[in-house]
Amino acid sequence: MALRNIRVDEDVILRKRSREVEKITSNILTLVDDMIETMHEADGVGLAAPQVGILKRIIIVDIGEGPIALINPEIIKKNGEQIGSEGCLSVPGTYGEVKRPQTIIVEGLNLQGEKIQIKAEDFLARAFCHEIDHLNGILFTDKVIRYMED
Ligand code: NI
Repeated sequence: MALRNIRVDEDVILRKRSREVEKITSNILTLVDDMIETMHEADGVGLAAPQVGILKRIIIVDIGEGPIALINPEIIKKNGEQIGSEGCLSVPGTYGEVKRPQTIIVEGLNLQGEKIQIKAEDFLARAFCHEIDHLNGILFTDKVIRYMED
């Protein structure tokens, strides 16, 4: 495993759309391992591949219950709404309130290439939505209702 550089601020790669993963190769598995290590080292709760410079549809989420990796994730159902504070490893030092669905069902591939669905609510739903936005070149700052003071 190795740490990868996290792209920040105006890096143009953060604004590009990531491509679907067609095959889960050993390179993809290494990338996922590196992303988990990089996210934990940076004290983050999620990371998307474009944040380490790779335009592939891969996300990691860990809200303290262990890392979940999802390949080609898609939100197939959402319900309700919640407003809460977010930050991002790619936008250091900035925090703001963002409106997200209260519950979602996200579908994607696990590392074995099997299609899985995860039902998420509250903060976990927020984390998935934030990371999936990264795959479409969207940053949470695009959606902030109100910035928080440090
Ligand atoms: Ni982020």
